[in-house]
Amino acid sequence: MELANRHILLGVTGGVAAFKACELARELQRRGATVQVAMTEAATRFIAPVTFQALTGRPVFTDQWDARIDNNMAHIELSRQADVVLVAPATADFMAKLAHGLADDLLSTLCLARNVPLLVAPAMNREMWAAAPTRRNVEQLRRDGVGILGPDSGDQACGETGMGRMLEPEDLVEDVIAALAPKPLAGRRVLITAGPTFEPIDPVRGITNLSSGKMGFAIARACRQAGADVMLVAGPTGLPTPRGVRRVDVRTAREMHQAVMGELGAVGSATYARSDVFIAVAAVADWRVANVSSSKLKKTADGAPPALEFVQNPDILAEVAARSDAPWCVGFAAESEDLEKNGQEKRLRKGVPLLVANIGHATFGRDDNELLLIDDRGMQLLARAGKDDLARDLVGQIGRRLPAGAG
Ligand code: CTP
Repeated sequence: MELANRHILLGVTGGVAAFKACELARELQRRGATVQVAMTEAATRFIAPVTFQALTGRPVFTDQWDARIDNNMAHIELSRQADVVLVAPATADFMAKLAHGLADDLLSTLCLARNVPLLVAPAMNREMWAAAPTRRNVEQLRRDGVGILGPDSGDQACGETGMGRMLEPEDLVEDVIAALAPKPLAGRRVLITAGPTFEPIDPVRGITNLSSGKMGFAIARACRQAGADVMLVAGPTGLPTPRGVRRVDVRTAREMHQAVMGELGAVGSATYARSDVFIAVAAVADWRVANVSSSKLKKTADGAPPALEFVQNPDILAEVAARSDAPWCVGFAAESEDLEKNGQEKRLRKGVPLLVANIGHATFGRDDNELLLIDDRGMQLLARAGKDDLARDLVGQIGRRLPAGAG
């Protein structure tokens, strides 16, 4: 669980979005965190402290003078136990206090007294969000190193529509996980292919494979958590886009090739931001049908099957790796026997520094996996684990191998 052993101090301030903080507290705990809630007086007008007490199994603090803390230093005591302070929702008023270092209640005092990261999730009416004082305060908080999560735009409780809605609990949880994760890819640009491709036969039929895209999407998510700017080129999958990841959907191998080359730009082009890392996780069809029918193929009276002709697709990974401005390339392979020999051969044939072998073919669609990393020093096993855990380990390994300023 990604938040196991993490202790989160959840500050709730007085906005209507306080109801979403209930779901947030549950979701943080579901990911393994312990949650301690501190509320402002105004927040208790929206949600009763006893609700959070029941959800978290811990007493809720609202008062600086709470007699339950022996030394009367609730602000120090509570913030020292936390790995991170998350204020959600954060009202315009509370952000103004934070920006100016005011400490006139328990939550604002412990935010000032804390020695751990502070994340705030603004929630307010769109005019309040756009107001000049709020703009100044947000800017000041950013400069002070406070993480501003959101807000989102959309329908607001006041009946208006615009920017200022608090992020949904699951998005906030993703941002908390990312904020706490190590940053081996900070400042790097990463391009990833994922999922299967679909090669048409006629307007309603085609050839595809059993890749679910789960591993590639998990790697995209882990790269973003590791601090990278991530572009995901995805074949047909029903998977949601990992938070903070840019995505382009493609169908065929040729579309995937085009999208990847489009992202990399012409060799040496100064107008393109250079990718530092390319991770080819997609199960790209090696061949496509050359004689695609423009109308649906019909059965024939004599029972003869259609005569499909095939032509080889471009090898995206090999082509990217051969560029003079090649990013640091990671290939994937499904090897079933003689892993080291076949893996090393494929690694050299594709011209990539790191090849990741899926052990066995049964990995497609599963939520766990087992990987073998093959590089010029030999092999390293990443033992069977959930795809999110494996993805995080793999990204750490990539970060360790990546030469400074690679790309
Ligand atoms: N790849 C690619 N473009 C292709 C084919 C493959 O970018 N047209 C990438 C895949 O994303 C993966 C690696 O190359 O990273 C897999 O290489 P491939 O030669 O297809 O190996 P296998 O799938 O293991 O199959 P085989 O050994 O049968 O060739």
